[in-house]
Amino acid sequence: MSKEILLLSGPNLDLLGTRSPEIYGTDTLDAHVARATAAANAAGYELRHLQTNFEGALIEAIHQARGVSVGIVLNAGALTHSSWALSDALAIFEGPKVEIHLSNPAAREPFRHRSTLAGVVSGSIAGFGALSYQLGVDAVVSILGR
Ligand code: DQA
Repeated sequence: MSKEILLLSGPNLDLLGTRSPEIYGTDTLDAHVARATAAANAAGYELRHLQTNFEGALIEAIHQARGVSVGIVLNAGALTHSSWALSDALAIFEGPKVEIHLSNPAAREPFRHRSTLAGVVSGSIAGFGALSYQLGVDAVVSILGR
């Protein structure tokens, strides 16, 4: 059985570190991924990470994860609030899937209050800043261990 968890980061997250640090903090995406990788490895899982600014590339990655990855952690960025195609792709993936956000979208502008993903994921983690990526991995690991 595969021991790979797939971590996906969507649009603009490649700019973490310099992008709106008052909202997202100063950690780079690499730093978030390093902590998420450590969390996965500590639980006996491999972590594969993909960052892309393209919706279709995220959808393709989710399709390709079927039968390969045991779970998905996804920060879809602003696609969270608009992409029903991403929602449909996640719905097809059978393993645990956790939506994560560094900030708390519910406490921000109204357009961020809707998540197209919330109804198809196992659960959501939002607002924990530098902890959100690793908490997402911990959640997938916990579900897999049930
Ligand atoms: C985000 C929240 C989204 O609303 C925003 O568009 C992002 C980042 C977060 O991690 O807090 O790009 O997903």
